Amino acid sequence: MKKKRILSGAQPSGLLHIGNYFGMIRRMIDFQDSSDLFCFIANYHSLTSINNKEELEKNTFNAFSDLLALGLDHKKSTIWVQSHVPEVTELTWILSNFTSVGLMQRSTSYKDKVANGLSPNMGLFSYPVLMAADILLYDATHVPVGDDQKQHLELCRDIAQKFNTDFEIENFLQVPEPLIQKEFSRIMSLKDGSKKMSKSELSDLSRINLTDDKDLIINKIKKAKTDPLPMPNTLKELDERLEAKNLLGIYSSLTNSTLQKSVENFAGKNFSEFKQKLSEALVDKIEPISTEIKKLLDDKSYLDNTLLEGVERANIIASKKIKRIKEIVGF
Ligand code: TYM
Repeated sequence: MKKKRILSGAQPSGLLHIGNYFGMIRRMIDFQDSSDLFCFIANYHSLTSINNKEELEKNTFNAFSDLLALGLDHKKSTIWVQSHVPEVTELTWILSNFTSVGLMQRSTSYKDKVANGLSPNMGLFSYPVLMAADILLYDATHVPVGDDQKQHLELCRDIAQKFNTDFEIENFLQVPEPLIQKEFSRIMSLKDGSKKMSKSELSDLSRINLTDDKDLIINKIKKAKTDPLPMPNTLKELDERLEAKNLLGIYSSLTNSTLQKSVENFAGKNFSEFKQKLSEALVDKIEPISTEIKKLLDDKSYLDNTLLEGVERANIIASKKIKRIKEIVGF
């Protein structure tokens, strides 16, 4: 049987955080031994929010180090920087012609980003087409993402199907399956349980970054928003208590437990007691990673060489696919 090809990416628009880890990276690592794994740093996408050369370069290296420190193995997987394979922008243009403006206008992430102050430019508008190109250029069969990317993947599937139908080539563009976990598919901000934890949120207190040290983690959890009641007794209560739900969700993800079990563990206790356990679990997980990230960032030539290996592999697949696509459309 053909191996699954698992592909996903993360934008270097800021420091990677535990939402990125639980939503995507951890699940990628789980597939590493059984699948053909492709993971990239989506720096073209980050141009929609960053126009500072130093910041973009620094974030790109940081994100790459994060992936390695978390356990993505460049010998088993293909890891690269998106802009190092520029064929993806060529494919974006081609795919734009198979993309309905009406569908794009429904993009909730576009509307949210503009509402949050990003400039409503064409890059931001056509962001999901570039994302479709990322996936279709590499024939990905499965794409693990957090819940926030669901709509983008639906659009990618629509674009692939339209292309295949218009050119009457069944299954030429691989229609990918999204892999979105059922529980905790969206980790929320530590400051507001109704908002996604995000790299671009102004307050650093809203997230736990993978580079945070022990003191920072303890402080952020201490300051994390809660409510005046004791810890909830039932799952049902969580519907009304978003912050408690989020923190218990993070705790469950860290301890590989169910939400039900975590609720039972802390039912009726004070938040301070729970927060202490949560901080401990976070420190246990994040501290070794942040130490490894710092070590990797000090070895620039290792990072450069490792990146080169990945891009070579990505290039072989991308150049074959784009050549065939160009023949099909008549270039
Ligand atoms: P990005 O960089 O915002 O996030 C990377 C991955 O982390 C997930 N994620 C979350 N999961 C749970 N809770 C959260 N709070 C949270 N925040 C982020 C995201 O769902 C994502 O899986 N557009 C993508 C990058 C991208 C991509 C692609 C992904 C570009 N091309 C092709 C897959 C396939 C993005 O901005 O992810």
